[in-house]
Amino acid sequence: MALNLAFGQLGEEAVRAREAELVIRLLAERDGVLALGGGAFASPAVRAAAKEQGWVAVYLRLQPVEAAARVLADPVARPGCDGPDVTLALLDSRFAARDAVYATADLVLDCDGLSPSKVVDGMVIALGAEPAPHPVAWLEGGPSALAEMLREVVPSGRLLVVADRKLLGAVEATVAELAARGRVARVVWVEGGEAAKTVSALSGIWTEAFAGPLDRGDTVVTVGGGVVSDLGGFAAATLMRGLPVVHVATTLMGMVDAALGGKTGLDLPEGKNLVGAFHLPTAVIQWGASLATLPDRDFASGLAEVVKCALLSGERALAQLEADALALCAREGAAVGRAVALATQTKMALVARDPLERGDRALLNLGHTVGHALEAATGYGRYLHGEAVAIGLVAALRFGSELGETEPGMADRVAALLARLGLPTELPDLPPEIWRERLRRDKKRAGDAVRFVLCRRAGQCALKIVALDRVDAWIRRSFSGSMDDV
Ligand SMILES: NC(=O)c1ccc[n+]([C@@H]2O[C@H](COP(=O)([O-])OP(=O)(O)OC[C@H]3O[C@@H](n4cnc5c(N)ncnc54)[C@H](O)[C@@H]3O)[C@@H](O)[C@H]2O)c1
Ligand SMILES: [Zn+2]
Repeated sequence: MALNLAFGQLGEEAVRAREAELVIRLLAERDGVLALGGGAFASPAVRAAAKEQGWVAVYLRLQPVEAAARVLADPVARPGCDGPDVTLALLDSRFAARDAVYATADLVLDCDGLSPSKVVDGMVIALGAEPAPHPVAWLEGGPSALAEMLREVVPSGRLLVVADRKLLGAVEATVAELAARGRVARVVWVEGGEAAKTVSALSGIWTEAFAGPLDRGDTVVTVGGGVVSDLGGFAAATLMRGLPVVHVATTLMGMVDAALGGKTGLDLPEGKNLVGAFHLPTAVIQWGASLATLPDRDFASGLAEVVKCALLSGERALAQLEADALALCAREGAAVGRAVALATQTKMALVARDPLERGDRALLNLGHTVGHALEAATGYGRYLHGEAVAIGLVAALRFGSELGETEPGMADRVAALLARLGLPTELPDLPPEIWRERLRRDKKRAGDAVRFVLCRRAGQCALKIVALDRVDAWIRRSFSGSMDDV
């Protein structure tokens, strides 16, 4: 029920009572961030519940003058805010009544003049965590909303848009909307699909970039999936020794993984992602509306990375994903939102701790040692990246069980989840020499050993150095009919 309507029909007191009841339930049942508007924190029962359940309460304090300006600029009507004077008077009196109580929060942040991302950074730093390496925003609307968001995140300069040709209509409409807002955007079209992540595609972007005006004040904007953000991101890292880049992710894989965290690169015939650079984006926009046209197979491919993130995150995340499996296949908004949020939080936290992958960030390679070997051994044509990762996740869990590192039942449990999400889980029958050859070339190799991410149970994953011989022996056994007992 809209707040105005609820206040009108039930009266503020009744609405507040219901609100407190709901908030207390959420405080008991959920983890994460709970954003409380209005007067919820004024309720002593809510404050007591927050303390009891171990929540950290943060008061984002805004002086009434700025709060009134924001309320008046917002098209959504607020109860009791019907004009500048009334609004200011109301907010003044609320501030006077609540400030002292709210200031008992664990943390008080004065937010006047700060952008939302600065407020978040301030909170994160005050809580002793690393700030996010870059902002990430979910966008629901169409081309006009995208143009508006791009105008906000890139306030000046020209835009060089590196876009997947499959999104022609949406990108052309966005460029027209940008032009209507006085912004110059030039498009370089590229193909999606792993086969397009090549040196020649990169060289094509370089050539077209200099076919028109370009200078250091310009920004590269990629619009597409992981192939386009990897390729366009690397182009941005190298054009004029580095132009800023914004990724607009249009595949689930892009949203939950590829566009986040600043890794860019391309494939060589010798192997996947062998050339690349770390180049952090100015911002990542997860363009939710664009998922409507994404084929099911590509959607499922992105879900493999979400399962990986659930394994890195913990039991609660894994159980939630299992509960959401059917809804995810039907692409229900709430389930998709939870999956994207889980993966975004998991990846961003690891990247924030270790931007250059000298330590913990490598945990994101869970399932990728075998996954990458499989993609390369099958010529990048048979499996999508997420499909190879799904098989790699199960392989890493089975291998972990054999080493005594993974709890019994984990491999079967995760295989069942991946299968429900429409992903393959079984290693194909390839000659063992091919595996050995591919694993030896792995970037994560260290001498005669491979750095493998192993998982004991959800939330307990660690990097282990495993001798290549042990991997070899496991692969040999895996292809001699004894898969069931590893
Ligand atoms: N840099 C990183 O950190 C990182 C992380 C994970 C994956 N990756 C890379 O990402 C790549 C895989 O990403 P991907 O699955 O997004 O691949 P992709 O970019 O090839 O997109 C998949 C397919 O969907 C099409 N497409 C894109 N958006 C669409 C839309 N909205 N509607 C319809 N079709 C659309 C593409 O043309 C392509 O055919 C791999 O190369 C992988 O190595 C990189
Ligand atoms: Zn991956």
